[in-house]
Amino acid sequence: MSATARAPQGKPLLRALRGETLDRVPWWLMRQAGRYLPEYRAVRAKVGDFVTLCLTPDLAAEVTLQPVRRFCMDAAILFSDILLVPRALGQRLSFEDNGPSLEPLSDVALIKNNDVAMLSPVAEAARRVSAGLSDETALIGFAGAPWTVATYMVEGGTSRDFQRVKAFAYRDPVGFDALIDRIAEATIEFLALQIEGGVEAVQLFDSWAGALSPDGFERWVIAPTKRLVADLKARFPHIPIIGFPRGAGLFYQYYATETGVAAVSIDTAMPPAFARDRLQSRVAVQGNLDPVLLLVGGEEMQRAVRQMCSVLRDGPYIFNLGHGVLPETPPEHVAELARLLTEQTR
Ligand code: CP3
Repeated sequence: MSATARAPQGKPLLRALRGETLDRVPWWLMRQAGRYLPEYRAVRAKVGDFVTLCLTPDLAAEVTLQPVRRFCMDAAILFSDILLVPRALGQRLSFEDNGPSLEPLSDVALIKNNDVAMLSPVAEAARRVSAGLSDETALIGFAGAPWTVATYMVEGGTSRDFQRVKAFAYRDPVGFDALIDRIAEATIEFLALQIEGGVEAVQLFDSWAGALSPDGFERWVIAPTKRLVADLKARFPHIPIIGFPRGAGLFYQYYATETGVAAVSIDTAMPPAFARDRLQSRVAVQGNLDPVLLLVGGEEMQRAVRQMCSVLRDGPYIFNLGHGVLPETPPEHVAELARLLTEQTR
C-alpha cells in the first residue's frame, strides 16, 4: 500500500474517539482554560462576572482559544460551565471567591423555567471558535451529567458530604427521579445547541459520581447517562460522547459497558493497567495524570507521563489529567508537558 493510501483520516482526537490507536498520543486538559493563565485572568478581570463571560460569544471564544494558541493541544474545549443548566432552569447562580452559589432547591415542583435558549450565546461562541481552529484541532463541548448538576442544585454549591442531595434522593426517589429527568432534558438541549454550533465531541462531567451508594449509582448515574447518551446518539449519530464518572472506582467498567459512551475519562485514582485491561477493549480511554503532578512539573511529572503513556498507548488513548488543571499551576509546566507529548512518537 502506498503512503498516501495509508494517510490517516481526520483529526487525531476524533480518530482516537472512534477507537483508533495512534502513533502520537493526542491530548487536551480538563479546565485547560482558566485562572492559571494570565491572559484568562486579564479577560476575567475586565468582565467581572463569570456568567457574563460564559454568555458573551467573543470573550468565551477568546478564552477557549487561549490555551490552544499557547500549547497546541489536540482539542479546544468550549468555555462555559455545567451550572448554566440550573441557570436556564431558573435557579439564581453566582460565583463567589469560594465557588458557585445557587439558591438551594428542595422540590422539583419549584422549577418553573426551561429556557435553554438563553444559552444560545454558547452556540455562537462555538461557531467563532470553529472558525479559529486548525484542521488538526477538534472542538469539544460539555455539560454536567444529571446527578452532578443535581448536587449543585440541591446543595446550593459545592458540598463536602452531599447530605442534603442524598437525603432528598434516598427519602423521595420518585421526586428525585423527576428532578434528574428535568435536568437531563435541559442538558440534551444544551448539548444540541453546542453541536449545532460546531462542537465535534462532547464530554459529560459526572464529577461527584463517586458519592453515591451502589443502588444510587445505578439509578442516578448509570440510568440517566444511558438515556441521555441514547437520545443524543439518535439525534447526532456522528458525535462521540466521553463520560467522566469521577470516583466511580469499581463501577468504571460497568459504566463503560452500560452507558453507550465512546470513551471514558479516568480519574487520578484509577490504575492505568486496569483501564487498559478492563476498559480499553470497549471504549477509548482518556486520562489520568494527577493535576498536582502538573503543578509540580519536572522529573516527577515526566516519569508519570511516560509511564502512563507506555501502559495505555497500545489502544485508543487520549492523554488528559485525572481532574481539572489547578489554578496555581505554572503555565511553563503545561508547555513542558506539551513538549514531552509531542516528542512521544513510536
Ligand atoms: O475545561 C475548560 O477549559 C472549560 C472550562 C470549564 C469550566 N467549568 C470553567 C470554569 C469546565 C470544563 C467546567 C466544568 C465544571 N464546572 C465542572 C466539572 C469539572 C470538575 O471540575 O469537576 C464543575 C463541577 C463545575 C462547577 C464549577 N464552576 C465550580 C465548582 C466552580 C468554582 C471552582 C473553580 O474552579 O473556580 C466553577 C467556576 C469556573 N468554571 C471557573 C472556570 C474557569 C473559575 C471561575 C473564575 O474565573 O473565577
